Amino acid sequence: ETGFFTYDPGFTSTGSCQSELTYIDGDVGILRHRGYAIDDLAENSDFLEVCHLLLYGELPNATQKAQFENDITMHTMVHEQMRNFYNGFRRDAHPMAIMCGVVGAMSAFYHDSTDINDPQQRLISAYRLIAKMPTIAAMAYKYSIGQPFRYPNNKLGFAENFLQMMFGNPCEEYEVNPVLAKAMDRILILHADHEQNASTSTVRLAGSSGANPFACIAAGIASLWGPAHGGANEAVLVMLNEIGDVKNIPEFVAKAKDKNDPFRLMGFGHRVYKNYDPRAKVMQETCHEVLKELNIKDPLLDVAQELERIAREDEYFIEKKLYPNVDFYSGIIFKAMGIPVSMFTVLFAVARTVGWIAQWKEMIEDPSQKIGRPRQLFTGVAERPFVPVDKR
Ligand code: SDX
Repeated sequence: ETGFFTYDPGFTSTGSCQSELTYIDGDVGILRHRGYAIDDLAENSDFLEVCHLLLYGELPNATQKAQFENDITMHTMVHEQMRNFYNGFRRDAHPMAIMCGVVGAMSAFYHDSTDINDPQQRLISAYRLIAKMPTIAAMAYKYSIGQPFRYPNNKLGFAENFLQMMFGNPCEEYEVNPVLAKAMDRILILHADHEQNASTSTVRLAGSSGANPFACIAAGIASLWGPAHGGANEAVLVMLNEIGDVKNIPEFVAKAKDKNDPFRLMGFGHRVYKNYDPRAKVMQETCHEVLKELNIKDPLLDVAQELERIAREDEYFIEKKLYPNVDFYSGIIFKAMGIPVSMFTVLFAVARTVGWIAQWKEMIEDPSQKIGRPRQLFTGVAERPFVPVDKR
């Protein structure tokens, strides 16, 4: 055959997968969702419109948009009993561990009403996951700081609601800053879907066995957590803090180039992009906007921009085609917004849920899809007879 991987669910024998959702040209640095360029969507659309586009294939008209927003809003609250899960975690549990646990537990609350062969029930599961992820994420944050959980406010937009659940508290009025809400909404768009990345492939493989969508998304969250994938935004902040000052950058760039040193520049490089990640450009602009709005002068942004300049002039990075990716600037924005580093990958998961569930839905609705069954190239010991223990 063709080597290690030969999946069945919509995968051709080259181990690739067919999909209509997202197109990437890594050499040129192009990302499109259903034909719309990511920078066009980030500039002119909003996250729920992009959710509609990924799920249904079209941007909604005014009537469809109002209906879709209402459908999502009506699913933002979680079953009251789900609050009990949080008490099972230590207060200092990583929020991604909580997300894996609580989203997986949604199987117990909503799975029995989910017949994945019923299109209507598939859609309701999709709405429930998209709508409840911000609520579950904000609850993980509130639990970690010992503040009471906030309920969603149906009068607010998707990103505004998330911010009020994160930062509002019962002792005072919380006014959502519209500039921050717009920035958060744009960041959600930038993370919504990205073709067959590690976590999406995990969701597809889990879903190909007929597992319920809540369990599949929990599997995707687990895969995203890795520092080589969604965990990179958290790792970038740790790295920038370690560098500390622009004068230390050459030392870290040298470490990243040293074959014997496992250190890599977090937020740089990509499995597919061998040019600038188009999302990173929008993220950098958003970073400047947010810092200006909050009147923050973050020395880490100076370090990040100088690191990017030096790396992009360095022949190792040029030859290896290593550019900043979506994770390089996002952490500086989240930090400015007051979001703790441990929550950075959780935000990635909140946004990517629509991509995961849209890709899962596309696979389930493909009549030719079969259970995934990666093949292998056996490199172990050939057949041999059993040896009794006294002869070994
Ligand atoms: C995401 O797949 C997706 O679409 C993911 C994502 C999405 O939206 O779902 O885009 C989100 O995961 C973005 C990536 C976030 N991860 C990081 O920023 C972590 C740091 N980056 C690296 O770990 C790395 O770049 C990967 C994991 C992203 C890709 O690793 P690969 O596949 O090894 O990259 P490559 O084959 O292009 O590497 C070419 C060379 C290799 O050296 P050689 O084996 O040729 O000697 O460049 C080296 C790599 O070792 N290299 C780096 C580097 N990234 C690659 N060297 C220093 N620093 C780096 N960051």
